[in-house]
Amino acid sequence: MTLSLTWHGHSTVQLDDGTHSLLIDPFFTDNPVATMAASDVSCTHIAITHGHGDHFGDCPQIAKACNATVIAAYEICEYLAEQGHAACEPGNPGGCIITDFGSVSFTHAFHSSSFEGRYMGMPCGLIITMGGSTIYHAGDTGLFGDMQLIGETWKPDLVLLPIGDRFTMGPELATTAAEMIGAPAALPIHFNTWPLIEVNPDAFAPRNVEVLRMQPGETIDVGAVASTQ
Ligand code: NI
Ligand code: MN
Repeated sequence: MTLSLTWHGHSTVQLDDGTHSLLIDPFFTDNPVATMAASDVSCTHIAITHGHGDHFGDCPQIAKACNATVIAAYEICEYLAEQGHAACEPGNPGGCIITDFGSVSFTHAFHSSSFEGRYMGMPCGLIITMGGSTIYHAGDTGLFGDMQLIGETWKPDLVLLPIGDRFTMGPELATTAAEMIGAPAALPIHFNTWPLIEVNPDAFAPRNVEVLRMQPGETIDVGAVASTQ
């Protein structure tokens, strides 16, 4: 089985197993580092970590255009249902949703979650099994001790961690997070999108973890990364 990962910049990533295409935290419109427009995106599923505009903003439009199934917190699914989008899989931290590509489990994340002033449920991290790999997208979060438990429980092949500071961990705390999670590879996300989250990504340097340095728009083969360990 193969799995490709495209980083669209910020926290937006797309996983593709050749049959299904899962878009996580779609943010193209008003994203200064995005290399494509929301209207050009094609996917079968969308997963959302939390309701902030830089993670959820393009979800309603893309979900409708692609008739994609949305996997998200209960309150986010309620919002989408009000907008007329019926294909939703609601969840909450601790829960696992079996999908036709694999599964999505919700972990907690230390953050907030609202959209246009409306409460959007718990902010989450996502554990995705797809194409023979397990990926942990931590969403927006501070450092928390249960990251070690998440690593032991799901044994992710790859972890995606925010490193932009101010609203999430900075590179130093994310380094600690990556070492606690213990995945063989890590991709830093949610940095250098705007001046407020400008950091030196080289300061993200966990021991015994391969750090993937990607550019927005770049695609990698996740299976090849995991199998080199
Ligand atoms: Ni956020
Ligand atoms: Mn964010």
